[in-house]
Amino acid sequence: MTHSGLNVAAIREDFPILQQTVHGKPLVYLDSAATSQKPEAVIQVLDEYYRKFNANIHRGVYYLAEEATARYEGARKKIQKFINAKSHREVIYTRNATEALNLVAYAWGRANVQEGDEIVATVLEHHANIVPWQLLAKEKKATLKFIRADEHGLLRADDIETMITAQTRLVAATMASNVAGTLTPIKQIVARAHAIGAVCVVDAAQAVPHMPVDVQALDADFFAFSGHKMLGPFVGVLYGKRALLEKMEPFLGGGDMIREVHLEYSKWNELPWKFEAGTPAIAEAIGLGVAVDYLTALGMENVRAHERAITAYALDKIGAVEGIRILGPLDPDQRGGVVAFSIPEAHPHDVAQIFDREGICVRGGHHCAMPLHEYYGIAATTRASFYIYSIPEEVDKLVETLAKVRQIFKA
Ligand SMILES: Cc1ncc(COP(=O)(O)O)c(C=O)c1O
Repeated sequence: MTHSGLNVAAIREDFPILQQTVHGKPLVYLDSAATSQKPEAVIQVLDEYYRKFNANIHRGVYYLAEEATARYEGARKKIQKFINAKSHREVIYTRNATEALNLVAYAWGRANVQEGDEIVATVLEHHANIVPWQLLAKEKKATLKFIRADEHGLLRADDIETMITAQTRLVAATMASNVAGTLTPIKQIVARAHAIGAVCVVDAAQAVPHMPVDVQALDADFFAFSGHKMLGPFVGVLYGKRALLEKMEPFLGGGDMIREVHLEYSKWNELPWKFEAGTPAIAEAIGLGVAVDYLTALGMENVRAHERAITAYALDKIGAVEGIRILGPLDPDQRGGVVAFSIPEAHPHDVAQIFDREGICVRGGHHCAMPLHEYYGIAATTRASFYIYSIPEEVDKLVETLAKVRQIFKA
């Protein structure tokens, strides 16, 4: 049905969690935008790490430490290749995308944003790409402005031109919205930022798991994403251009990020370790390397084609339910695999609970994008989100349950 080149039935076999029933019903997992499920290969490497290689990295000169270090650094090189970064030194492990964005706000923002400067974000952003800039703007007495979206959730082209001005020091924009689903004209935003000498920070948390990305082609200065949304464990990544990272002071201080420490002063380690203070999430980083192998073997073009097809199917089916309002563009070419909608008579939390009784996992709430919901004048939505293992039958179950929900709340 998807014409994508993915063998989805075989893929589903790789995900043990999908084989179970919940409340006596087959599990239907439609919350991959929050976190993806993990294939056997990722689960196995975590198990193997703790059984065979568990040791702290970089310092030990014994076999276990060397093996753990080689795998941790090997995973970094896989990630580098996956996003087409020029150097592994530009790939920094973080806790998650949120920490990656905060790293930029703290380490680049504090040194480069001054009173009277402007920071430009968009109304589509997740809280992780708003709050760090609010904190920075407050501290520096800078102004935070937002590029608006139209009624279809598409960023306004005129705003991209007029909001980014000679006063703008930094532009922070998502590549794909986690609520409206919108794929933003990110290349154009980066180019506009560069045209006036600003730096562009891309929130790619909903992009890297779902489509081919190339940080060099995009020319992004900083690019943040989460391993746990792309089949990996709970670890994140910040890509940054080497020239910028070299000039920045560290984010966190402690072990591993130093070359020398004296009582009076310290000297920093080279990239990327300057930004990796303390013992990192070693097993998780190694697991992310395996997740990258898995996605690479599938082919990111195929992943995108599958998600585009299942999203098109969902937009058709959900859109056909009377009275439902779907947020974001209705053209599947303009969006990722996220469909958030509102049902006039029911609150999304109640809706999600009824779905749960049918074994269906969907999200109800503001999905960490309160400003976007406010912008559209709705308090909350129900969100279904798809990934490589999602199938049309799951969308059918969602739509059947939607009919039940409406009956319950109408009665
Ligand atoms: C667009 C977007 N940005 C950032 C984040 C934050 O990711 P994390 O919670 O892994 O830091 C999310 C998570 O939902 C997201 O969807």
